[in-house]
Amino acid sequence: MRISRAMRFAVLVAGTLAESAFEPVDFNVTNALVDLGVNVDFISKLSGPVEGSSRDACRIACNALEYTFGSDSVDTPRRPSYDSFTNTYWSLQQASVDPYCIFKPSKREQVSVVVLLSRLTQCPFAVKSGGHAAFAGASSIEGGITVALERMNEITLSSDNKIASIGPGNRWQDVYTRLESQDLAVVGGRVAAIGVGGLTLGGGISFFSNQYGWACDNVASYEVVTASGIVVTASLSSSSDLYWALRGGGNNFGIVTRFDLQTIPQGKMWGGGRLLNEAAFPAAIKAFYNLGMNSAQDKDAAQILSFAYAQNTKFASADLQYAKPVANTSIFAEYMAIPAMKDTTQIRSLSNLTMQFDASNPNGLRETYWTATFKLDEAFAAFTKDVFFEEIAAIADAPSLVPAVTLQVITTPQLEKMAQNGGNPLGLDAKDGPLILLNLNMMWSLIDDDTRILETNSKILDRTVAEAEKRGLAVDYIYMNYASQYQSVVPSYGEANQDTLEQIAHHYDPIGVFQKLQPGYFKLGGAPVSSAP
Ligand SMILES: Cc1cc2nc3c(=O)[nH]c(=O)nc-3n(C[C@H](O)[C@H](O)[C@H](O)COP(=O)(O)OP(=O)(O)OC[C@H]3O[C@@H](n4cnc5c(N)ncnc54)[C@H](O)[C@@H]3O)c2cc1C
Ligand SMILES: *[C@@H]1O[C@H](CO)[C@@H](O)[C@H](O)[C@H]1NC(C)=O
Ligand SMILES: *[C@@H]1O[C@H](CO)[C@@H](O)[C@H](O)[C@H]1NC(C)=O
Ligand SMILES: *[C@@H]1O[C@H](CO)[C@@H](O)[C@H](O)[C@H]1NC(C)=O
Repeated sequence: MRISRAMRFAVLVAGTLAESAFEPVDFNVTNALVDLGVNVDFISKLSGPVEGSSRDACRIACNALEYTFGSDSVDTPRRPSYDSFTNTYWSLQQASVDPYCIFKPSKREQVSVVVLLSRLTQCPFAVKSGGHAAFAGASSIEGGITVALERMNEITLSSDNKIASIGPGNRWQDVYTRLESQDLAVVGGRVAAIGVGGLTLGGGISFFSNQYGWACDNVASYEVVTASGIVVTASLSSSSDLYWALRGGGNNFGIVTRFDLQTIPQGKMWGGGRLLNEAAFPAAIKAFYNLGMNSAQDKDAAQILSFAYAQNTKFASADLQYAKPVANTSIFAEYMAIPAMKDTTQIRSLSNLTMQFDASNPNGLRETYWTATFKLDEAFAAFTKDVFFEEIAAIADAPSLVPAVTLQVITTPQLEKMAQNGGNPLGLDAKDGPLILLNLNMMWSLIDDDTRILETNSKILDRTVAEAEKRGLAVDYIYMNYASQYQSVVPSYGEANQDTLEQIAHHYDPIGVFQKLQPGYFKLGGAPVSSAP
């Protein structure tokens, strides 16, 4: 199933290649810039004495951007707007990166220009949507150009209300607030400040995924600026290879300048968290497992079960959501029977719920995310929790540390939806479900604690994966949106899918602009950092 789908695309890609090269071999970057109205004579005068260093390259590229689009579109160090920009990242690791300049395009043509200027000068770049990727360089770049999409924040509804066209600079909160007034929503993030761009390109798990699938499986089309600056609309009916690749392939194919998302009818819902003490852990894991196994029985239900440690206390949070405005519905009976120390469940709007989640995820701390996937198994879920509490003892004294292990179920209905619209490249199959999606996440304050905290995460992951292999519960898939810089995401989609993704990337980007000139985050070949922490 997985192979035949990939092979179909391999054939499709090979066919397209034979017909016409997307970018001609003699493609002339300078001429492409001239076509976009950029004064290239000025750029050559700007160049001055060039020693071929990256700083020279970026000085030229940033000056050219400022000359072409005005100083309002470009931030450089020593301007107050530069610092206020870097503070918009979620993690301190990303906020600490200093780009040569920050470029804020407001139109797709300006995105084309920055890609071409990067090619011309060889100044590298990074792209930022909501800035919630945790590790340094994911959506930021030391000494290069950070392309901040925040001004591309349009939200428009098609006349039949079926498609919401969303600019990549939006955060989910803005999207939900805009659509709520018409009792509509889209399949997107669960925390207010997360960006539309990163979440949707890596997969995207929503409160409503048990009904509709992941965010990437509910995109009707993508508008993409490719490596040659040409804008492509990728959908099931045009550039369908690129459409497939973008449904989980991340930042490897181009810069998405518009996401056309299928809307869903959505009014008020029910949701919130139930705080549980250690005595409740076995019952919570049982409820988690049973709900995961029974997820097809009521597709409006969703759950997130986290175990955490704070103030010398182990606790759990069972975050439960229901797509209809109905409290305590029977599918949650087992969870609701567990005594809670605190309960915030209530009938509320989607945006209200995403705001509540936002409050527990503040900006400005050091952060790390790690992930693995396993077959859903009750005893194994308990094992992961135990390994987590055992290993964090070694780092518990780190100031402001909040360590957590979050368990979700990739439900069988979610997996079934991955096959819609021609499938996606994640390499997951409904017959393998349901799955546990493990997400280790920690925040802390001191840089001196980085190494031991990252090592602890690595150890927890190694131990759980080794045990899963022993028990026959291991699954290769690594979820991009939760992966650490040490994890090899795209290869985990399977060799055939990785090959096809590489062919598609090569077709639209033959010289590898999005692999080399945009070096950050999960490239097609493997992990961002190849050594262990
Ligand atoms: C508090 C918190 C809550 C989360 N909740 C969820 C959740 O509910 N569901 C879920 O699935 N995940 C969730 N995540 C994970 C989240 O999906 C990832 O962190 C994701 O990368 C965030 O997207 P962003 O746009 O904010 O990040 P960014 O850091 O801006 O981008 C991430 C990557 O995507 C690339 N990118 C972004 N936009 C574009 C674009 N338009 N074109 C090309 N490349 C682009 C960037 O270059 C970067 O490499 C959560 C993360 C956090 C920290
Ligand atoms: C691109 O075209 C310009 C003329 O517009 C020419 O001067 C330049 O040499 C060409 N560049 C390459 C790499 O062929
Ligand atoms: C739902 O259950 C909780 C916990 O058992 C209870 O406090 C609450 O009153 C119930 N709400 C409704 C509407 O039944
Ligand atoms: C969500 O709605 C509840 C009930 O109306 C309200 O008390 C709460 O303040 C709201 N939360 C946010 C973050 O808006």
